Amino acid sequence: MAARCWVWGFVVALLAAAAVVAEVADGEEEGKWEPLIRMPTEEGEDAEAAAPAPAPAAPERVGTRWAVLVAGSSGYGNYRHHADVCHAYQILRKGGVEEENIVVFMYDDIAHNILNPRPGIIINHPIGGDVYAGVPKDYTGHHVTTENFYAVLLGNKTAVTGGSGKVIDSKPEDHIFIYYSDHGGPGVLGMPNLPYLYAGDFIKVLQNKHASNSYSKMVIYVEACESGSIFEGLMPDNLNIYVTTASNAVENSWGTYCPGEEPSPPPEYITCLGDMYSVAWMEDSETHNLKRETIEDQYEVVKKRTSNANKLNEGSHVMEYGDKTFKDEKLFLYQGFNPANGNITNELIWPVPKAAVNQRDADLLFMWKRYEQLNGGSEDKLKVLREIEDTIAHRKHLDSSIDFIGKLVFGFENGPLILEAARSSGQSLVDDWDCLKKMVRIFESQCGSLTQYGMKHMRAFANMCNNGVSEAKMMETSINACGSYNSARWSPMTEGGHSA
Ligand SMILES: *[C@@H]1O[C@H](CO)[C@@H](O)[C@H](O)[C@H]1NC(C)=O
Ligand SMILES: *[C@@H]1O[C@H](CO)[C@@H](O)[C@H](O)[C@H]1NC(C)=O
Repeated sequence: MAARCWVWGFVVALLAAAAVVAEVADGEEEGKWEPLIRMPTEEGEDAEAAAPAPAPAAPERVGTRWAVLVAGSSGYGNYRHHADVCHAYQILRKGGVEEENIVVFMYDDIAHNILNPRPGIIINHPIGGDVYAGVPKDYTGHHVTTENFYAVLLGNKTAVTGGSGKVIDSKPEDHIFIYYSDHGGPGVLGMPNLPYLYAGDFIKVLQNKHASNSYSKMVIYVEACESGSIFEGLMPDNLNIYVTTASNAVENSWGTYCPGEEPSPPPEYITCLGDMYSVAWMEDSETHNLKRETIEDQYEVVKKRTSNANKLNEGSHVMEYGDKTFKDEKLFLYQGFNPANGNITNELIWPVPKAAVNQRDADLLFMWKRYEQLNGGSEDKLKVLREIEDTIAHRKHLDSSIDFIGKLVFGFENGPLILEAARSSGQSLVDDWDCLKKMVRIFESQCGSLTQYGMKHMRAFANMCNNGVSEAKMMETSINACGSYNSARWSPMTEGGHSA
């Protein structure tokens, strides 16, 4: 611990020193408009950064940098998603991206949560500082919705409900960065308020954004279980959008800096502080000169780290989708440039985690840690115990009723095989996204909310659609499987962000 603190103190001193030097030496302004007229010493770098533009006769514009940051969960057990998103905000701000150009979606129930040992503070690393201060509350609570996310991205103020009303009012020369951290499942990303984000809709929104000719390039980073399935077989390569995801279409993504791990959060924390892919890109951005580092450089670093040094037992395959022709662009076009990092070319200076907890177990880990923390015999302890029991029981109920429905529809032997069958890579999860939504709705009406845990079963519903199962059949089998289940506690109307 002492050694770690010393390292941190050293890093702070280093950054502070670099910042002073940078201010004296650099003296440049990262304005909203960044014309390619530069100090002679910088010309080379920026000309390169603006590639693939051919040697411009007229001065070319980098345009405005825009960002949308989404923490798609709620509940203290999901601390890490808020921590990731707040941290990302700080990186962009330090990089000179203007607050008015960054739209933040977060439920905002973490910083002032009764369980937060440091009220009003959120950290994203065991020895990291506060990342919450200054984060704008654009869309919080009930306004963190898929609909608002789409409206914001499309720059459609009239379609927004509640919140700050801030939207991505971008122009053709602008650059857009989207970062999403959450639970997910095949074809879906979580939202703390229903409905979830469905891949088919999201891709259409991206196509509409492209059709409105209101950006030059876009980079999207997504952390969630099965996040590859949002883009696999769906993401066109002609939208000037480059995407990376924490995991491929069929695997978990991983929480990190979790209690009991190395390095573990300070002892008073009973929840994971970050997610593996997310902290990998952010800690990389913080320790590199983003006017030199390319999109591709970061992809390679993050891929390696997220795979847990290629061990992949606790780790995932970082994937890329969309237009891969502009990966040689410099990251500062999206994430800005922090002059204090001008000379940093270090390897990571933070202790890198040696273990991880998959997204779905991270929630249970939190509940158990909470249980252990409470005094024996207290009413609170019993309450937490009942909550754990309920959660586990509902998870089992979801698993077994979907399995049961599969058997009713496809037969005892074929059921499980058909439900779990992953389509070959390059193929989307499902062809008919409306069918998928309907199947989920019918299931939930009889069996209770899928919850964020149950998103892992999306492939089963998708495969019902892919095999032509009718709505009537789905209804009939759902009633048979769940008719006697008391789903009141798990009403699909109330259980959006919960993590069962
Ligand atoms: C980086 O290092 C060079 C050479 O030591 C120095 O001239 C320059 O001012 C430094 N720049 C920053 C941003 O710290
Ligand atoms: C913006 O949203 C409103 C309300 O949903 C819709 O009627 C309108 O067509 C949208 N405008 C654009 C430009 O897409």
